[in-house]
Amino acid sequence: MLSSTCTAAVRGLSTTAQLSKINNVTVIGAGLMGSGIAQVSANAKLNVTVVDSNQSALDKAQKGITSSLQRVAKKKHADDAAAQTALVSSVLDRIKMSTNVSDSVKDADLVIEAIVENIDIKRKLFAEVEAAAKPTTLITTNTSSLRLADIGLNLKDKTRFGGLHFFNPVPMMKLLEVVRHNDTSDATFEQLIEYGKTVGKTTVACKDTPGFIVNRLLVPYMFEALRLYERGDASMPDIDVAMKLGAGYPMGPFELSDYVGLDTCKFIMDGWHKQYPDEVAFKPSPLLDSLVDAGKTGRKSGEGFYKYK
Ligand code: 3HC
Repeated sequence: MLSSTCTAAVRGLSTTAQLSKINNVTVIGAGLMGSGIAQVSANAKLNVTVVDSNQSALDKAQKGITSSLQRVAKKKHADDAAAQTALVSSVLDRIKMSTNVSDSVKDADLVIEAIVENIDIKRKLFAEVEAAAKPTTLITTNTSSLRLADIGLNLKDKTRFGGLHFFNPVPMMKLLEVVRHNDTSDATFEQLIEYGKTVGKTTVACKDTPGFIVNRLLVPYMFEALRLYERGDASMPDIDVAMKLGAGYPMGPFELSDYVGLDTCKFIMDGWHKQYPDEVAFKPSPLLDSLVDAGKTGRKSGEGFYKYK
């Protein structure tokens, strides 16, 4: 069997020496996850560019990052308004916004994709990123449910491709799953772990398996709660209270589903159900389907399992 160094040489993989230190991060997708990733990266003194094709999404991201930073600053400098303002503006100063992918990845050492979970759109984006980025740029996805091997299928150099899976709300959740697929080089993987430490996250390593660690356990758990409710065994509030007080979870499964977004939960499960139709843990829920059909996608729409003001 080849040693890992030898394998790298045979495949022509990048080595740590060839990869540049991560200073410039480009986050593609200005949604909730992209905004949070940009915030924690800039907070760690990295230069960040957030890219989205939609200017109003960028404006919304700017507002969201500012208000999240204000919460962080208030906590850190409770009685010092000037220090709060300084913290917020020093982080914001490190974040640029752009609608142009190619321009924004030119100087990037690390690209993190956090766009819609659509394989064709992601593949198209990665082709554009690879064509414009430096030959040493690390290219990653924050996918929550798709396989890296599928997303990165058409990349010419798959050795610099990996997964960085963050959790919502990114500034608060301490975990980062670092995912490697069959072709991710050791050097890339180590750099991604290092990036995770830089942005203050605890990293765990996972192979390219659907849902990685957290979502593989969490999403079927949320659906099992739905099945419990659909059978009439307990009410939603009681199931939520039970899991908070009996299992110590910060949110019950229905609160969490509304928080994550019911459309996201449905999207993940539908994809897995299609891939593994015999797996009972991945069985869709009629109630969830009807809520999503009615546009009740959780907190963001004002209603999901619960109503929000
Ligand atoms: N930015 C900055 N600070 C934030 C924040 C944000 N976006 N959201 C919450 N906070 C801070 C608040 O300022 C507050 O700080 P304080 O305690 O010092 O005052 C603290 O977090 C607690 O917030 P709240 O009092 O508003 O509310 P909670 O105590 O209920 O905490 C929560 C909110 C942190 C979201 C907590 O309920 C929680 O941990 N929930 C579980 C979240 C979870 O499981 N996320 C993972 C989802 S799965 C996923 O993301 C994967 C994807 O692929 C689907």
